[in-house]
Amino acid sequence: MSVAIITGASAGLGKEYVDAVVEQFPQIHELWIISRHENALQKVADQYPQREFKLIPLDLNEDADLQKFSDTISKFNPDVKLLINNAGYINSEAFAKQDYDKQRMMIGVNVIAPTLITKIVLKYMKPSSLIVNVCSTSAFAPVQGQSIYSSTKAYVYSLSLSLHWELKKLGIKLLVMCPGNMKTNMYQYNALNATNKSTQAIGYLPFLDLHVITRKSLSLVQKGHIVYTPGLFYKTYRGVTKMLPHTILSRFLKG
Ligand SMILES: NC(=O)c1ccc[n+]([C@@H]2O[C@H](COP(=O)([O-])OP(=O)(O)OC[C@H]3O[C@@H](n4cnc5c(N)ncnc54)[C@H](OP(=O)(O)O)[C@@H]3O)[C@@H](O)[C@H]2O)c1
Repeated sequence: MSVAIITGASAGLGKEYVDAVVEQFPQIHELWIISRHENALQKVADQYPQREFKLIPLDLNEDADLQKFSDTISKFNPDVKLLINNAGYINSEAFAKQDYDKQRMMIGVNVIAPTLITKIVLKYMKPSSLIVNVCSTSAFAPVQGQSIYSSTKAYVYSLSLSLHWELKKLGIKLLVMCPGNMKTNMYQYNALNATNKSTQAIGYLPFLDLHVITRKSLSLVQKGHIVYTPGLFYKTYRGVTKMLPHTILSRFLKG
């Protein structure tokens, strides 16, 4: 049985990835969709009565839930054609003021989960399988007020680049997508509710079209690309962060 696995599929970019996979991968038998809320996953699945779904309610911040996922996949022994590590969590606050739980959640959901999910799923992939890791432009340079978030995304970026080449030897293609602003729950809760001016200012940066970037990333991963930074503004930002020393940039970048 061939499957696609999408984490964070209940909302935002992940939900759009479900649309894109349904549209572009008719040959995949079942979509395995993951988030904490089963009701929200059910609503997503209900939009596609013609397709098979497995709803996997998991808290990716919990070790026990990652073990549960490992048990589920070993029980069904699927042929995983596509893995999209999309789930993510942000809390923009000064490190010293931030709750411990929010800090732990960013590290759990953004770092530990995609690393271990990839490790677990790899055993069920074959040559020509695909992985998309959703990262962020925050990965390109350290951002004050997002110290942990930007570090977690720098980890995802770095891991993805080395894994791209390691997995290529196994015939598996991996793309890291680094989006900037997107109008999702993450943006609503983080930037719109922010009291600090730098987080509010993020709202003036360009917003990306979820429909376009999900389709484009799925096309690029099949062609063997390694990094996708959607939008001219964010591509330019990536270029700037490559040219300027991060010791200087980190003094000015605030989120
Ligand atoms: N929005 C932006 O401006 C922006 C910019 C750059 C990068 N990104 C990245 O894009 C990806 C998607 O974010 P988004 O904007 O679509 O955010 P979103 O609308 O907040 O969606 C996040 C998804 O992750 C799931 N999730 C969060 N915590 C989880 C947990 N502990 N266990 C399981 N699932 C969890 C949520 O589902 P439940 O709540 O149902 O668990 C939801 O499906 C993330 O990796 C994010 O870092 C976003």
